[in-house]
Amino acid sequence: MHHFAYKNGALHAEDVALSAIADEVGTPFYCYSTATLERHYRVFSEAFKQGTGGNQALVCFSVKSNSNLAVVSTLARMGAGADVVSQGEIRIARAAGIPANRIVFSGVGKKRDEMAYALDAGILMFNVESEPELEALNEVALAKNMRAPISLRVNPDVDANTHVKITTGKAENKFGIAWERAHAVYARAADLPGIEIVGVDVHIGSQITSLDPFRAAFAKVAELVRELKDQGHDVRNVDLGGGLGIPYMQGNEPPPHPDEYGRIACDAFADLDVRLLFEPGRIIAGNAGVLVTEVTYVKNGEAKDFLILDAGMNDLIRPTLYDAWHDMLPLKEAGADAPRLKADIVGPVCESGDTFAKDRELTALAQGDRLAILSAGAYGAVQASTYNARPLVAEVMVNGDQWSVVRERQTYDALLADNRMPDWLDT
Ligand code: LLP
Repeated sequence: MHHFAYKNGALHAEDVALSAIADEVGTPFYCYSTATLERHYRVFSEAFKQGTGGNQALVCFSVKSNSNLAVVSTLARMGAGADVVSQGEIRIARAAGIPANRIVFSGVGKKRDEMAYALDAGILMFNVESEPELEALNEVALAKNMRAPISLRVNPDVDANTHVKITTGKAENKFGIAWERAHAVYARAADLPGIEIVGVDVHIGSQITSLDPFRAAFAKVAELVRELKDQGHDVRNVDLGGGLGIPYMQGNEPPPHPDEYGRIACDAFADLDVRLLFEPGRIIAGNAGVLVTEVTYVKNGEAKDFLILDAGMNDLIRPTLYDAWHDMLPLKEAGADAPRLKADIVGPVCESGDTFAKDRELTALAQGDRLAILSAGAYGAVQASTYNARPLVAEVMVNGDQWSVVRERQTYDALLADNRMPDWLDT
């Protein structure tokens, strides 16, 4: 469910026509819907209302999916915590108003300065992903006369059945601590004076569209929590990661509803006195954003036709990187008998991979027509680059009938501003 729909023949974000925004800010731009973000956050958090052992669940928005300050602030106001993977993301979460004691720090390669920063901020817990990281964190904490609250991210060796580039819970993935090592590493953690064990963490992948992998992983983790508690470890928090998928293609069977996901999570840990944590990204932000772009040219080629857009793979890399499907809607609603086209929808970047869709059937569009690429709110703007010296695009947020630019389009001056000439060229 999202709030991008046609009204009076024009595609709107809530009560604002996307073409009105395009007239003012130009294209391409990302547009986020406040009502959609709020709705997704509410539906997701209500799925865990029953909690476990009398403990309320904590929903930590995965900032990597969309780190726009206005997006994170919108969720912060609803009580969201944050799942972060870098010092930069801690800073964004804090700037958005998320209290440090609602921040969990994940990631396989945390550096010591990032650990020190997070300790000073007073975050809720570090999700430790390896034995050397545990030793490093112990040293950083001791140097500050502190104890770092940790959970170990365990790797349950479960197949999430998702795209190979976004599966994380298999033994061959770089993530987490091998299942067989979990007990030994918890024992080691308990011996380290700079470490305080507060939980267990797992995350098996992203865009997961069946509950089975979650069920399998949760059952294994529940068993582990039981054993760790029996051994005297103070496992208070169980972080079950993110990963629940969203519908990218209209008409396809939708992924499981958060309510079903919430039920299996709460059931799996019902008899353990723990607080559940979740790290959703895509399910909150994915369908709350679109990328609005304009047709620069329609090129009728020898073998096929091309719609050349002013957005490129540098603005939205998901189709290139994951062969991802994104639905597309023209900003002007087409009548039922409007002519259709079949074309490759491509960007201007000088790579064949700069293709949003192959042989896509759409309402026929002409040069200057605009369209929205849907489901671009998660892993869209955050994965953008300036490849081909293309400035980062503007980001806009809509709230009812109001809208505001929440990130300026990068200027050409800014694109060059951080370059420096070495002495030998500076003549
Ligand atoms: N927690 C951890 C430790 C993660 O690594 C991730 C995502 C999440 C939570 C949030 O997962 P979500 O609820 O959004 O599925 N760029 C890719 C997705 C990469 C996911 C990375 N980790 C894409 O565009 O599909």
